[in-house]
Amino acid sequence: MDELYREVLLDHYKNPHNKGIILKPNIHKEDSNPLCGDMVEIFIRLKGEKIENITFEGKGCVISQTSASILTDELKGKTLKDVQNMTREDLLDLIGLQLTPTRVKCAMLPLSAIKKGIIDYEAKK
Ligand code: FES
Repeated sequence: MDELYREVLLDHYKNPHNKGIILKPNIHKEDSNPLCGDMVEIFIRLKGEKIENITFEGKGCVISQTSASILTDELKGKTLKDVQNMTREDLLDLIGLQLTPTRVKCAMLPLSAIKKGIIDYEAKK
């Protein structure tokens, strides 16, 4: 089962979902992991308070880029409040693997970018 799950994760890395940019996004934020320099750039198009579309660009390790692929799948149709309430544990449940603390930082990179982007967006409203 674990092997199968690893294959699913690797497939997200090789064939990432929602990779690309959105022109004129409502939310656009880049964040990087200072330990390694890996980065994720998030684009969100809103419809009211809901995420109509979300995409990412980035470069980095398997966990950070896979996390971005899985997370962007999960967040379509969710509200900004849903995202702000999302915890580290929620994200790790989605990823479904036991991760070391360093790897947890990798997994958190896209969620951190999204949450920072929402804070910027709310501040401008
Ligand atoms: Fe850089 Fe994972 S090693 S984010």
